[in-house]
Amino acid sequence: MFRYVLVRASEYPLLDSGQAWPGFLSSREDAILAGLQFLPRRRKWLLGRAAAKRLVRQLSGPQPVAEAGISVLNRPSGEPFVLVEGRGEWEFPISISHRSEVGLAAVPEDRGARIGADIETVEPRDPALVRQFFTSGEAELVVSSGEAADEVVARIWSAKEAVLKLLGLGLRLDTRGIAVNLHGEPFLECPAGWQPLAVKVGVEAPAPPVSRLLRVVWRCEANHVLTVAVAG
Ligand SMILES: CC(C)(COP(=O)(O)OP(=O)(O)OC[C@H]1O[C@@H](n2cnc3c(N)ncnc32)[C@H](O)[C@@H]1OP(=O)(O)O)[C@@H](O)C(=O)NCCC(=O)NCCS
Repeated sequence: MFRYVLVRASEYPLLDSGQAWPGFLSSREDAILAGLQFLPRRRKWLLGRAAAKRLVRQLSGPQPVAEAGISVLNRPSGEPFVLVEGRGEWEFPISISHRSEVGLAAVPEDRGARIGADIETVEPRDPALVRQFFTSGEAELVVSSGEAADEVVARIWSAKEAVLKLLGLGLRLDTRGIAVNLHGEPFLECPAGWQPLAVKVGVEAPAPPVSRLLRVVWRCEANHVLTVAVAG
């Protein structure tokens, strides 16, 4: 269904100072990093590139391109894409997510599919998040989950963000147009260690209808919820 890489900040000592390490960035990326002023943004941006480049190299066969030959860039919408030196745009769509300590990148196995990936920390959150961004059904799920409420909020929020990224829209769409049910039907291609979610995309989504083809799966890893959505 998809391939993914999760990297940890502890693997990259220079991250704490927001610096790239020799041979890591392409010259285009060097110019982008130079324009990022704030340390948390620089760290996250670098973590996302670290995950994406490792994934591209893993999928590039026996003679992978050097890290600096891979540019992980963004379209005007914010959607990421990959340029490989001497070859042009990489044929697979890619999705990126980062929190302060981890970076996630995922690509679909089918290059014609769409993908969205998101990672969220399981932690107490402002109740306004549920009030403003969740459907009433999702809010009920949170209330009825008792001590597991923080994880349930992270799972629902992560699923919404993964689907928003798959649609290429980010938070431009009303998040209540994406309805998450925690218990999805099992399906054959569901990767081992991941669990299905049932997600419905409302008709107001200004993108191709994806609900029928949409597969969304999640897993917990080191106090984080990872979600990947694939369609097509
Ligand atoms: C996309 C969005 C949901 C990401 O949520 P987040 O939890 O803050 O951050 P995450 O770490 O999970 O994801 C960030 C990554 O999402 C990707 N992304 C951004 N916009 C995207 C979009 N429209 N579609 C798909 N992916 C997108 C990028 O790869 C970004 O990482 P990068 O900037 O380092 O390349 C959120 O930032 C958003 O909706 N923003 C509004 C749209 C926007 O402002 N886009 C930027 C225009 S330049």
